[in-house]
Amino acid sequence: MLPATSLLRVYILTSTNAARKATTAAACNPSTATSLSRYKYPMAVAREDKPVWSQVPRAVRERVDEMLGARVVRARRAFGGYGPSATFVLTLDNGRRAFFKGVYPLPEGSAVRWRLDEEERVYQELAELITPWAPAYYGSLRLGGWHALLIEALAGGRVPPWTASRAQRAVRSFAELHARTLGGPLPDWLPREHHLEFTGYWAAFTADRQLRDRLANLCRTNEAKLDAANWIVAHGPALSAAEAPLVSARRFALLHFDTRSDNIRLDGNLLRIFDWPFACAGPAEFDLAAFAQSITLEGGPEPEQLTAWYSEVLPLGDDVLAASVVGVSGFFADRGSSHDLPGLPRLRSFQRSQLKSSLRWAARLLSLPAPTWLDALVD
Ligand SMILES: Nc1ncnc2c1ncn2[C@@H]1O[C@H](COP(=O)(O)OP(=O)(O)O)[C@@H](O)[C@H]1O
Ligand SMILES: [Mg+2]
Repeated sequence: MLPATSLLRVYILTSTNAARKATTAAACNPSTATSLSRYKYPMAVAREDKPVWSQVPRAVRERVDEMLGARVVRARRAFGGYGPSATFVLTLDNGRRAFFKGVYPLPEGSAVRWRLDEEERVYQELAELITPWAPAYYGSLRLGGWHALLIEALAGGRVPPWTASRAQRAVRSFAELHARTLGGPLPDWLPREHHLEFTGYWAAFTADRQLRDRLANLCRTNEAKLDAANWIVAHGPALSAAEAPLVSARRFALLHFDTRSDNIRLDGNLLRIFDWPFACAGPAEFDLAAFAQSITLEGGPEPEQLTAWYSEVLPLGDDVLAASVVGVSGFFADRGSSHDLPGLPRLRSFQRSQLKSSLRWAARLLSLPAPTWLDALVD
């Protein structure tokens, strides 16, 4: 168990690197926070409460030295994701580097759900399919309630900022990952229904006034609240109907299912992808829809440009792509309007940013009037 102090949520106000990154992800907007107590953050910028290296039990640290065959001389905490996993870039006394991703006993009441067992299985059993995109896998340990993976520390460049060239290289390499497995055999144990969990939200928003109001009420003005509710009533049925090709899609590839800037590095023309617990079989269009809208929201090219670049490597089914974009937008409409979760301070805000990006794209694909009320939605 971690010392009690580390279980307190830490909020920072400085302009450190991590704070800047948190701001980039639109974690919070102080001007709206005061008027909406449910969405209020205690301070201007929040970041996840990740343990420092000295809080990792000594026995775990010693086992890491043994496994890597060298002593850790520096362990720099790695921020970027939206959870409190214990993540470190390790520098070893032989000059090499490695990455430590660990999970540990959570404080009571935490909403965090670890998924390291699933991720470990992907590294152990899918190496052939995920190489060279994924980091090399060095091993795992379980000790004193801790479970950790040791993997290659990736050197590639961080995004954002996105440029046209970076975005083009990223989506083309992503298409190559999908092309490797598309239509081929995939292990039986890989989930095949993850993408289906992204359908049905627009039907629910259309039918359920309370749900609709929960979302609409996150708009800053009364006019926008009304506009949001009316827009959803008018266009929810079209959005819902457009999801059908996602349900009937059968041509599957191995999907990463969580591809965003906080889970990637760009190394020349190669997209390096980590954080694999959600790996599954499903339509490649879904993986691209989720990734593309996240690039656009970070100031990258428009999704139409991203899908054009991707299609140069791997053709996309237009219907399944549109269905995926709609499904993704419905999911973020639901999650982005749900209550905050303890221990995950930036999550909801980031989900609302993704709602804005994906629903604007969905409306264009379906030739619906632009959902201008999204401009008034809180960050
Ligand atoms: N192999 C790696 N090499 C370098 N940095 C990494 C590596 N894996 C993860 N990171 C950094 O650590 C952060 C958290 O790791 P990640 O596996 O994404 O954990 P989480 O499940 O908490 O999102 C990432 O956002 C990234 O900045
Ligand atoms: Mg991550």
